[in-house]
Amino acid sequence: MSAPMLLRERAPAKVNLTLHVRGRRADGYHELDSLVAFAGCAADLLTLAPGPGLSLAVSGPFGDAAGPDDDNLVIRAARSAAERVEGLALGAFTLVKRVPVAAGLGGGSADAAAALRLLAQANGLSPDDPRLVDAAAATGSDVPACLRSRAARMEGRGERLTEVKLDPQPAVLMNPLRPVGTAEVFRALGLAPGETFVPPGPAGAAPGDPEAEIARGRNDLEAAAVRIAPEIGAGLVLLASQHGCRGVRMSGSGATVFGLFSTAQEARRAARALSAAAPGWWVRSTMLR
Ligand code: C5P
Repeated sequence: MSAPMLLRERAPAKVNLTLHVRGRRADGYHELDSLVAFAGCAADLLTLAPGPGLSLAVSGPFGDAAGPDDDNLVIRAARSAAERVEGLALGAFTLVKRVPVAAGLGGGSADAAAALRLLAQANGLSPDDPRLVDAAAATGSDVPACLRSRAARMEGRGERLTEVKLDPQPAVLMNPLRPVGTAEVFRALGLAPGETFVPPGPAGAAPGDPEAEIARGRNDLEAAAVRIAPEIGAGLVLLASQHGCRGVRMSGSGATVFGLFSTAQEARRAARALSAAAPGWWVRSTMLR
C-alpha cells in the first residue's frame, strides 16, 4: 500500500511597497495602485491530502487568532474553486499560521492562494487557469496577487496585475501584534462612493522604475491606521533609526511596518536590535521579491 499523497505549499506574506488610493468606487471598494512583493522568510505553511470532502485543521503560533474554520479563506477559496471547476477533487487541508493575522501582510489571502495552488496541483490544472484566477478574485482583493506570489503592480480592487521586475529587497518586518481591521482603516479615509482621493503630498514617480516608485511612493492608509493604532508610528520611528535603513513604510492596512536595507546582513542586524528594543513585537528580517 502506498502512503497517501501529501502536497505542500508556502503562503508567503505580502508587503505593499507602495499603496496609493485613487478613490472610492460606486460598489464601495477603493480603487488602488500598489506595488506588492512577497517575503522569502515569513510564510504560513499549507498541506493538502487530496480526497473526498473538504476540511481544515489550523495550528501554529497564530492559529488561535485565525477564526472559525468555516470562515477561513482556505475553505472559502476551495468552495469558490469547486463552484467553477466541475468535478474538482478537494481534500483535507492543514494550515500552520506563522504570520500574524489582520496585520496588513495578506496572511489569509496568501493562505487562500496557496490552497488554490494546491488544488491546481492535485487536479492537474495550471495555477493560471482562468477559473482559479476568478475564484481567487471572488475570495478577496489580495488573493489574485498572492496566487502568483511575485512582485507585481496591483490595480483596481487588486484584480488587475502586471509583473514588476524588482531586485530582491532586504527588509525587516515589524508588527505590534495588535490586529487592525482592513475595512475599518479604509472606512477611516472617509471617502463617499464615487469620490476621488486627494493625496496629501506631491505625486510619486511615474511607473517604470520600481526603485524610484518605492522611494517616492506612499501608503495612503498609513495616517488613518496610525490614528487607530498609534503603535504603528512608534514602529516606523524605531525602524528608521536602524543603521542602513533606506526607508520605512506601513504595509497594507497595518499594523505591520517594514524597513528596506541595502544588504541582508544589515537587515538581520537591525532585526536582532529591534527584537531587543521592542519586546512583544513580531520582528523578521527577510528578502522581498
Ligand atoms: O476584498 P477583501 O475582502 O479582502 O477586503 C476587505 C475589506 O477591505 C472590504 O470589505 C473593504 O471594506 C476594504 N477594501 C476596500 N478596497 C479594496 C480592498 C479592500 O475598500 N480595494
